[in-house]
Amino acid sequence: MKPRKGIILAGGSGTRLRPLTLAVSKQLLPVYDKPMIYYPLTTLMLAGIRDILIITTAEDQAAFQRLLGDGSQWGLNLSYAVQDQPDGVARAFVIGADFLRGHPACLILGDNILYGHGIQQAVQDLDGKKGATVFGYHVDEPEQYGVVQFDKGGKVVSIEEKPRKPKSSWAVIGLYFYDDTVLDRVGEVKPSKRGEYEITDLNNLYLRDGQLRVERLGRGFAWFDTGSCHSLLEASSFVRALQARQGQLVASPEEIAYHNRWITIDDLEKAGRRLAKTEYGKALLERARLNGSA
Ligand code: TTP
Repeated sequence: MKPRKGIILAGGSGTRLRPLTLAVSKQLLPVYDKPMIYYPLTTLMLAGIRDILIITTAEDQAAFQRLLGDGSQWGLNLSYAVQDQPDGVARAFVIGADFLRGHPACLILGDNILYGHGIQQAVQDLDGKKGATVFGYHVDEPEQYGVVQFDKGGKVVSIEEKPRKPKSSWAVIGLYFYDDTVLDRVGEVKPSKRGEYEITDLNNLYLRDGQLRVERLGRGFAWFDTGSCHSLLEASSFVRALQARQGQLVASPEEIAYHNRWITIDDLEKAGRRLAKTEYGKALLERARLNGSA
């Protein structure tokens, strides 16, 4: 089986965050001490994915390239593509078709933050599995999301996009794993009533063929979609609290690259020195020192 490739979908119009997003992409806004895109990027890194396509609007692409470069500083291979208009999440597979061909895929939305013990194991366990895997999260307002309906035995019956009367409180989060048949299936997705190529429709195609798994994330996981001012602040506070209390970095590409053995301890230390005026840089230096750098 070929290695899984990743896509971060970081376009969109960010209308719920205006005026913050009038001049800056939502996915470049800070979530406490890091740009938002670091969070989905490191989720992919934790899944062991190194080949990653970043899809942005045309006007924002240069800013993402300035921030992330070609990814080699973290042992990654980053490439970039443009989505001309926000016509739906499933379009990621049309835009990324040449990049993905023949590989299994993982798509993550650029504004999704996932944190929890065991996430690394959960996603690595999917290696080599056929079909699709998505994750359900228990939420207060399911009508804003794709909502999973389960039967009495816990089997998935349907996923409905933004239903007015949700059949459960389980929302599908913006992290999706697909096998290498995804490009064949995505052609079947047609625009919905609101004019978008819905990821829910792609997931329902897998469901129709008995090929969709929904993993329910329990209480030990935190998930934020940082699309509103309120959730953006909540996510920042969460990261700040965790880092301060545990003395550990959340979503540091340097730390995870080192943990995955994609960069050396010298690389980690150099990255720390470049950021030495910040708590973030100091934490990297401390990590390098604990692991025995000079
Ligand atoms: P949304 O939050 O649904 O849309 P948005 O980012 O445009 O924000 P708003 O609703 O405030 O106008 O998008 C979720 C994520 O997916 C976000 O990271 C942007 C990304 N996205 C795209 O890149 N292209 C798309 O066509 C869509 C629908 C979303």
